[in-house]
Amino acid sequence: MHILITGGAGFIGSHVVRHFLNRYADYTITNLDKLTYAGNLANLSDVEHLPNYRFVKGDITDADFLMRLFAEHHFDGVIHLAAESHVDRSITNPTAFVVTNVLGTVNLLNAARAIWGANLEGKRFYHISTDEVYGSLGSDGMFTEETSYDPHSPYSASKASSDHFVRAWHDTFGLPVVISNCSNNYGSFQFPEKLIPLFINNIIQKKPLPVYGKGENIRDWLWVVDHAHAIDVIYHQGKNGETYNIGGHNEWSNIALIRLLCRIMDTKLGRAVGESEKLVSYVTDRAGHDLRYAIDSSKLQRELGWIPSITFAKGLELTVEWYLGNSEWLSNVTSGSYQHYYEEMYCGR
Ligand code: NAD
Ligand code: TYD
Repeated sequence: MHILITGGAGFIGSHVVRHFLNRYADYTITNLDKLTYAGNLANLSDVEHLPNYRFVKGDITDADFLMRLFAEHHFDGVIHLAAESHVDRSITNPTAFVVTNVLGTVNLLNAARAIWGANLEGKRFYHISTDEVYGSLGSDGMFTEETSYDPHSPYSASKASSDHFVRAWHDTFGLPVVISNCSNNYGSFQFPEKLIPLFINNIIQKKPLPVYGKGENIRDWLWVVDHAHAIDVIYHQGKNGETYNIGGHNEWSNIALIRLLCRIMDTKLGRAVGESEKLVSYVTDRAGHDLRYAIDSSKLQRELGWIPSITFAKGLELTVEWYLGNSEWLSNVTSGSYQHYYEEMYCGR
C-alpha cells in the first residue's frame, strides 16, 4: 500500500503521517507539501528517519507536476489535507484560498483520475474537510451529514467548493472518494495563529489575549490525535461516495475555553490563579464571524465504531504541557527560523 498524504508537514497532516507510519509499517507514506508558512518539517522529526517515509516538496496548484508525481509513484490512495486553513488570512487574501483549496484539489482529482484510469480496485481518494462548510448554528441543533452547505468565510467557501468538486468526480467519473468534515482541532504542532496555541504563546509571554467580539462564539473541539485516528478508520472502512462528520461533542464558548486555558497555564507556570485571565483583551469582532459550530458524529460512531479517546480537560492539559516542553519549536515557529530548515536539511542532497 502506497499512500500520498498532502499537507503532511502541517498541523493535522503531521499527526496523520505519524499515525500511519507508526501503525502501518508495511505501507509507504509519501508526504507532499509545499512548506508554506504553515508547513514545518520539524513537526515530523521523530518519524522522518523511518524507511517507509518519503517527503516530496511540491505544490498542488502545479497540475503538470502532480501528473508526473502520480505517474511515477503508483499511489493506491490519497489523503488530501493540503490547504490554506486560517479564516483570518482568508479575509485578508481570499484568492490564495481559491487557488490552493479549490484549484489544488481539482488538480489532485485530475491526476488521480488520469493515472488510475479504469484500474480503480483498491483505490481511494480521501478529502479532509471542515464543519465550517455547514455555516453557523443558532443556540440549538447540530450539523449532520445532511445539513445544507452554507459557508460564510472565504476559507469555508473554498472548502465547500472543494467538497463539491470531490463529489462531482465521484458522481461523474466514478472516482472512489470519501470525505470527512471535522470540527476545530487542538493539540501539539498547531501553528500559533489559531486560538489555542496563540493564546498559550501569549500567556507565556504575558502578552494581551485578543478575544474577538464578546467571546460568545462557540466551537466544538477535538484532540488532533483523535482526528488522525478517525481518518485511519474512515480511510480503511468508510464507504465510497460517503461523507462522515467527525467531532467530540465538546462545545465551548471562546471565553469559557480561554478561562480554562488561563487556569491550566497559571498552575503549570506557577503563577497565581487569575493572573493570566487579566491578559484578556476584547477586540473588534472577526468579519462574518460564525456564532456556533456543533458536530453530530453519530454516523461515524454507529457505522465505523470511532469514538474520541480523551476528555477535553485532559487533552488541553497535554497540549499546554507540550507547548511548555517544546519552547524551542515555539520560538522557531514564531521567529520564522524553521523556514530555513528545508534548505539546511534537503538542498544539495
Ligand atoms: P495547516 O495550515 O496547519 O497545514 C496545511 C499544510 O498544507 C501545510 O503544511 C502547508 O505547507 C500545506 N500546503 C498549503 N498549500 C499547499 C500547496 N499549494 N501545495 C502543497 N502543500 C500545501 O492546516 P491544518 O490545520 O493542519 O488543516 C489540514 C486540513 O484539515 C485542511 O484541509 C483543513 O481545511 C482541514 N481541517 C482543519 C481543521 C482545524 O481545526 N485545523 C478542522 C477541520 C478540517
Ligand atoms: P480559530 O482558531 O481561528 O478557528 P476557526 O475560526 O476556524 O474556528 O478561532 C477559534 C475561535 O476563536 C473563533 O471563534 C475565533 C476566535 N478567536 C479569537 O477570539 N481571537 C483570536 O486571536 C483568534 C485567532 C481566534
